[in-house]
This record gives sequence, structure tokens and C-alpha cells, in this order.
Amino acid sequence: MPEKYTPGYSSNATNFMANRSLDTHGAFFKPYLRPGMKLLDCGCGPGAIALGLAKAIFPGILTGIDREVSQIQIAAESAFAQSVSNAEFLQGNIYALPFADNSFDTIFSHALFEHLQEPAQALRELWRVLKSGGIVGLRSPDWGGFLIAPSTPELQKAFSYYKWLQQQNGGNPDVGRELRALLRQAGFTNIKTSASYECYEPLTLSTATEYLALRIEASAEVDRAVEKGWTDSQSITAMSRALREWSQHPDGFFAAAWCEVVGYKI
Ligand SMILES: C[S@@+](CC[C@H](N)C(=O)[O-])C[C@H]1O[C@@H](n2cnc3c(N)ncnc32)[C@H](O)[C@@H]1O
Repeated sequence: MPEKYTPGYSSNATNFMANRSLDTHGAFFKPYLRPGMKLLDCGCGPGAIALGLAKAIFPGILTGIDREVSQIQIAAESAFAQSVSNAEFLQGNIYALPFADNSFDTIFSHALFEHLQEPAQALRELWRVLKSGGIVGLRSPDWGGFLIAPSTPELQKAFSYYKWLQQQNGGNPDVGRELRALLRQAGFTNIKTSASYECYEPLTLSTATEYLALRIEASAEVDRAVEKGWTDSQSITAMSRALREWSQHPDGFFAAAWCEVVGYKI
């Protein structure tokens, strides 16, 4: 089964990523950043975190890569709009990076590893392009740690269904807890782990619930799920309705768990 990126590239999904920043989503990595570094951001998406990284290492060069050309274009336009001159964005696949061995001082990857079918293979590529003594930092969610209130059976089913979709696409929604093991098995040392929660507040203004509802309704995936007997079109409607009702609930609470890991190539 070929790997597929579950969120897709709708404006809803892209805006969801574009609202991130180094401060809100990459704070665990800030102590490792130094001016002048050559830094790679793998799976940079629309580049919101990448531009924060570029500013933190100025006059060093930030290279952002993403498999999807539309995301690279948005990232490059944002860099231009924000007058960030030390960032470049290229189309590229983490499994076959277009760089020579030992090219980067530091590598960062945010919200990518949960979508990868072959994370060990991806880490072999990161190891190859990282200089000796270099640092890698990864951050991914772990859906097993998500907190949801007030919970209903339909809401629980919606979250389980999305996780199933991601697994069908070759991803691992619970990869957060495995990042440490993945780094160690890839040969990285002096590994440091941390975890944090992202609280979507107020839920009424959050794009997260609508993003999940839209993905659950996406027709090709629905057809596939119905075919496999996992669900039916009535359940799809009930799950997306539950997400939208939850988003309007005055007591609606959603905290997403993120796991962070940093390691060295010694
Ligand atoms: C969830 S988004 C994260 C974007 C950004 N890092 C952030 O956290 O806001 C994941 C990104 O990884 C990209 N991606 C997925 N598979 C990839 C691969 N094999 N190689 C490179 N990029 C990939 C997707 O196109 C998408 O833009």
C-alpha cells in the first residue's frame, strides 16, 4: 500500500498548519538553535515554523523541503512577504533527500513522522545528510494522549475513525511515544525527550474540529471505508455532526498531546 498524506492540502488544512509558529510549536528546539547554523526543516508545509527557525539562526541558512509543491510555494511567498532572506524552500522527499552527505548542522521535523510508513528509512536519510556532531529534533502528536470533553460515543468514534484513516494511509497516529526508540535505533545518542499539550481554545474558534469533520467527509476515503465495512454513510454524517456540535459546546475542551525528541549524531 503506497503511503498517503492524510490531511491533504485543502485551504482548511493548509491554514491549520499556517497558524503555527516556532514559539507555539517548536519551543522545545529553540535552545539548540545558534546564529549561523545550516538547518534543514523536513516536511515544512506552508513554512510557518520554518520562518521562525530561519530568524533564529540568521545569518545561517534555513532549507525547507516538502513533498508537495503547493506547500513550497506558500512557504516561499511567506518568506518574501516577511522579508526573510535566509530561507530557501525546495520540493523533496524525506526518503531520498536531494542533498550531499554531511550537509546540515541541524535537522528539524514537525508533524511529519506520524504520516510516514517507513520512519526508520527516513531517519537513515536524516543521518546521512546531518554532519557529525549535528542535532536532530522531531515533534509528533500521539493521539493516545488526546483529551476531549464533553465526550460522546459519536465523538469518540470520530477520533477513532480518523486514526483508522491515518493508519490505512500508512501512518501511525501514536508515533509520538515511539520517537525516542526510533532515534536510538537509528544511531542517535544523548537523546532528550519531552512532551506538551496544545489546547485548542476557545474550541468555537478552532479550525481543528472543522478540519477533522472535513477529512471524515472526504468522499474517496468514505467510499473506501464503507467498502471495507468499517462504517456507513449514516455514521459518517453522525461523526461529522458530533464534531461540529462539539465545536459549539460552551464547555468544549480539546487538548492534543505532542511528543518531542532531540538526539545527536556523534
Ligand atoms: C502535518 S504537515 C506539517 C507541516 C509543518 N511542519 C507544520 O508542522 O506546520 C506535514 C507535511 O509533510 C509533508 N510530507 C508528507 N510526506 C512527506 C515526505 N515523504 N517527504 C517530505 N515531506 C512530506 C506534507 O506534504 C506536509 O506538508
